[in-house]
Amino acid sequence: MTRCSKLVDVGRRQFLRGGAIAAAGAAAAVAAPPPSRAAIPGARVDYPSTRLANLADLKPDDPLDVAYPDDQAPGVLLKLGRKVEGGVGPDGDIVGFTTTCPHKGFPLSYAAASRTFNCPGHYSVFDAEQGGQQVWGHATQNLPQYVLRVDAKGDIYAEGLDELLYGRLSNVL
Ligand code: FES
Repeated sequence: MTRCSKLVDVGRRQFLRGGAIAAAGAAAAVAAPPPSRAAIPGARVDYPSTRLANLADLKPDDPLDVAYPDDQAPGVLLKLGRKVEGGVGPDGDIVGFTTTCPHKGFPLSYAAASRTFNCPGHYSVFDAEQGGQQVWGHATQNLPQYVLRVDAKGDIYAEGLDELLYGRLSNVL
């Protein structure tokens, strides 16, 4: 029994020593500085400017079909009638989005009443007034929004996207 008690005692000491080492490691992990947010690259990729339309071509809540950054990437320009995130033009109300669902690539439809893009595949919903933010559904990212610029003549150019397009490993042409 004596021998057995000694073994139990040795076991306790090793257990306590291991606990102290683990506590020291946890304290060091807590004290380590957090990784810099600046080190995380953004998804945005710039493209050559592409003219999509002119201000005169747009009517409120009437999506204008376009394609960007190439013919295989359907999208729309929208005039929402009030200043919104990512909006350009004199009223800051013109936005552009891909119309391919980022979940599994179904074509989206625009609902003017709710200002949303809706997917018939698995019912994801994206808010056009909030930069394409997903408000419901299976998609794991927001709807890619165009980076737009309007020149002095009112021509509207797309110059990039803020998210990856569905089915592409990169937004580079
Ligand atoms: Fe749009 Fe699945 S393809 S939610």
